[in-house]
Amino acid sequence: MSWQTLDRKSVPEGHLGPALSAAAQEKIRSFFPRYPTKRAVMLPALHIAQDELGYVSIQAMRDIAGLLEVPPAAVLDVVSFYTHFWTHPKGRKTIVLCRSLTCELLGSQALQTAIEQKLGIRDHETTADGEWSFMTEECLAACDYAPCLQINEKMHKCVRVEELDKLLADPQNDKLAMPRSDLYDRPVQA
Ligand code: FES
Repeated sequence: MSWQTLDRKSVPEGHLGPALSAAAQEKIRSFFPRYPTKRAVMLPALHIAQDELGYVSIQAMRDIAGLLEVPPAAVLDVVSFYTHFWTHPKGRKTIVLCRSLTCELLGSQALQTAIEQKLGIRDHETTADGEWSFMTEECLAACDYAPCLQINEKMHKCVRVEELDKLLADPQNDKLAMPRSDLYDRPVQA
């Protein structure tokens, strides 16, 4: 079999995904006064992109590269380092299960097996109906309530396998009891 050459310089139009809206781009620019360099706005920019699109598309990476005046590869470096950032669309709700030591000692692996069997998906996959995505993540900073998981941004503590059906069926399972932090939503005054 001969070697195949991969074209890493061009991306087929259909693989680019959605672009950032003008509002998202403006929000990214509004972070510039907070940081010493445009490049330092990388993480806020990626959060804004994933908030808006549900994931960080290739086109969004290009948009961010243009805004921050860095090569697109520098954006991809960061996206591919953090499991938090998705490069393909997520479901409407994402379950983030802690895989670190305390949660593992108190049953997170059994929870993972139960979630995967119930939803029919593995880590970083999405159900065919687009309702659920699943991922594991390092410590969620709630070790004293292990094992824990998040559904979107809502934390669920001391989760037991027996409670999983009820938890997933609850329409409020991703509703936050308090307003979301305005870190990314508040307009910044220069
Ligand atoms: S080990 Fe699971 S929240 Fe810290």
